Amino acid sequence: ERMQKIMKLRSNFARALREELFKYEFVEIETPLLTKSTKEGARDFIVPSRFNPGKFYALPQSPQQYKQLLMATGIEKYFQFAKCIRDEDLRADRGFEFTQLDLEISYVERDEVIKIVQDIVINSVKNVSGKIKDENFPVISYKDAIEKFGSDKFDLRTPEEKEQGVLAFAWVVDFPFFKRVDKNDVAEVLDGKSGYTFTHNPFSMPNPENLEDHMNGKNVEQIKTTQYDLVCNGYEVGGGSIRAHKSEILKATYKIMGYSEEETHANVGHMTEAFDLGTPPHGGIALGLDRLIMLLANETSLKETI
Ligand code: AMO
Repeated sequence: ERMQKIMKLRSNFARALREELFKYEFVEIETPLLTKSTKEGARDFIVPSRFNPGKFYALPQSPQQYKQLLMATGIEKYFQFAKCIRDEDLRADRGFEFTQLDLEISYVERDEVIKIVQDIVINSVKNVSGKIKDENFPVISYKDAIEKFGSDKFDLRTPEEKEQGVLAFAWVVDFPFFKRVDKNDVAEVLDGKSGYTFTHNPFSMPNPENLEDHMNGKNVEQIKTTQYDLVCNGYEVGGGSIRAHKSEILKATYKIMGYSEEETHANVGHMTEAFDLGTPPHGGIALGLDRLIMLLANETSLKETI
């Protein structure tokens, strides 16, 4: 009975989200599952190709590149309930496969994405009778979050609110763009050839005040990204950013990570070529559907809801 209740909650919540997205005139689009494997994709699950013995497809860790290519084609509002597959260390809130509500919007800035996503989340949570602590989700900088809570995934609920199953959302912004590579993490070592790798997403736009340093590869540790994370009850339930929609900015990001021009082209040449055709500014987010259901159901393991 308990599992059936959660499965119905999941169905109802997905329906509510979809209806909210259609109100904003988003277009639901499916993207491919058999994708290009790069040698840097250390967290890819791979599929052997029968036609090309010894070669492999990669399963997508997210539709990130496809949704940006959709923006390049003139689709202005995209969404998808996307299966994502990642070969990463498992935790109570992390699976090899999980579902994102993935979306992307053209001609937006950070605060507009935040406003739209917040509206969609609030209405959908209410639709399944979820209780929200504060409908004006607080916006907190990464630095303040670390100083105040010791973590960028904090819990704003009182003990009483915990008992009542209340959801306390907040946004975290102004993350560092890069971090030093953790030498014990194979994927980071492969990604960050220079000793630096991205904290969230290599496709993000740096904050405007850091753009010059970014282009010149200077003061790397001070560069901040337009990344925004949505946190709820101590979990990261979503993350997104405004993207670098100009090829020279994306190339500068890869240069900071130690890639030669040829290596950058081999990795993201399809993206830089699309940008050079004239791609509108765009940004988006992906919400972790399984984690949101877990919190709505007042559970503590993803296994109960995935
Ligand atoms: P990110 O990697 O932060 O961003 O993922 C977005 C959200 O998906 C959820 N999530 C997971 N849930 C369960 N198991 C996992 N292994 C797992 N990994 C992530 C989290 C997370 O916040 N392409 C970008 C999004 C964007 O920039 O638009 C991306 O995938 O709730």
